[in-house]
Amino acid sequence: MDLSCADPTIGDQRAFDWWSLLTASEFLKDPYARLAELRARGAVQHDAASGVYFVLGHKEFAQVAKSSRAGRDTRRWAGGWSAPEYSVQDPIGHRLFTAFQPQMINSDPPDHGRMRGVYEPAFHPQAVAALEPMIRAEADRLLDAMPEKGLVEMIGAFAGPLPLRVLCNLFDMPARMDADIARWSAALIKIGDIMMTPDQKREALDALEAFNEFLRGHLADLRRCPHSGLMGRVLAAEENGVLDEEETLVNLVSMLVAGHETTVTLIGNGLLLLLQNPRELARLRADRGLMRTAVEEFLRVEPGGNMILRIALDDIEVGGCRIPAGAPILGLIGAVNRDPRRFERPDVLDIGRAGNAHATFGGGIHFCVGASLARLEAQIAFGALLDRFADLALAGPAEWRLDRINARGLKCLPVRVGGAQ
Ligand code: HEM
Repeated sequence: MDLSCADPTIGDQRAFDWWSLLTASEFLKDPYARLAELRARGAVQHDAASGVYFVLGHKEFAQVAKSSRAGRDTRRWAGGWSAPEYSVQDPIGHRLFTAFQPQMINSDPPDHGRMRGVYEPAFHPQAVAALEPMIRAEADRLLDAMPEKGLVEMIGAFAGPLPLRVLCNLFDMPARMDADIARWSAALIKIGDIMMTPDQKREALDALEAFNEFLRGHLADLRRCPHSGLMGRVLAAEENGVLDEEETLVNLVSMLVAGHETTVTLIGNGLLLLLQNPRELARLRADRGLMRTAVEEFLRVEPGGNMILRIALDDIEVGGCRIPAGAPILGLIGAVNRDPRRFERPDVLDIGRAGNAHATFGGGIHFCVGASLARLEAQIAFGALLDRFADLALAGPAEWRLDRINARGLKCLPVRVGGAQ
């Protein structure tokens, strides 16, 4: 049996440069038609230049995400960030990725479960439901600061600050640190791009060092009095030797980064989708019972995070393609979530879509630990916006951020609001 991967050069015979495609501004502004073309050529494709296996099919991604033969420990990546030659070739990158390594998302069992177990109970749906009054109060505070009628830039006024305030409350971070945490977060989220420029690596390393220094002092302050809640669990885990100091710091940094930027993107992209689809907006206004499925549909249609990484721990076969041990595998979620073999009318926003098995939160043991929080936060944010304003309309072109590959989100979303209640 032939187990070679789909070769996208067949047909036009030109060398295909994945990284030029993934970083092109036209692609970053609107990737979906191109992703559909690529997926039609093969659900799994190999890029010989980088060694990456791209997964674009829904069934194939689910297989990879759930497989115990595909892990997340990037030290298993042959020729990757931990390879001896990499430290010589790219010393800043080597320092950055080594410092960012000891955390749950970059670990395989048993370390992964040990770290995840510290956080998981605080993110169970029941525990998250108790945060509803706090989230609602933060959303109302931001809405109170808006005019009753006029123009509002929704990323700066709502989608950006809401997730940050929620996380800082949950993790006992002082409000005076909001601007610093937002800045560090913007630099560190680019690590998910896999391909970073030298300047971005330097900036991310500086951000990580500054974030760690702040957290060291802050944790020392918190230790002075007994703590319950999530930070109580984190402090106890360090004290009891479940986490060492480095793991405590890096997991916290990662939580604050992963939980912030992604949720900003969900609220911003979801609002843009509603404004571009006024019939769906009217449908949601008329039937708030659709809020849960509406948020899932925003996550499917505009997933924000477009790449999910695994490293083959063994030779594995996916979609008729043999992937060798040590190879990096990247799920391209923008393609996976619109696979026509899995979703009917995949490019259409249907806020009542049933059985919406999107891959935006990943899968298997690494399935996003903060998914319940992100879902609740988005449901509250959209409910509060619709309660407050009877009229919401796009007031100009929305602007996508083009400085990152794996966080497709808006820089600017101008909205005309009116009919305040
Ligand atoms: C819309 C919002 C969010 C999206 C789209 C998102 C997406 C993801 C994805 C794709 C993964 C990797 C899954 C995999 O490899 O299979 C992940 C993991 C993770 N996410 Fe989220 N996330 C969101 C919100 C949050 C929030 C609010 C938090 C915490 C406050 C959070 C914390 C984490 C952590 C700690 C992991 C690593 C889990 C593990 O390795 O076991 N995320 N998330």
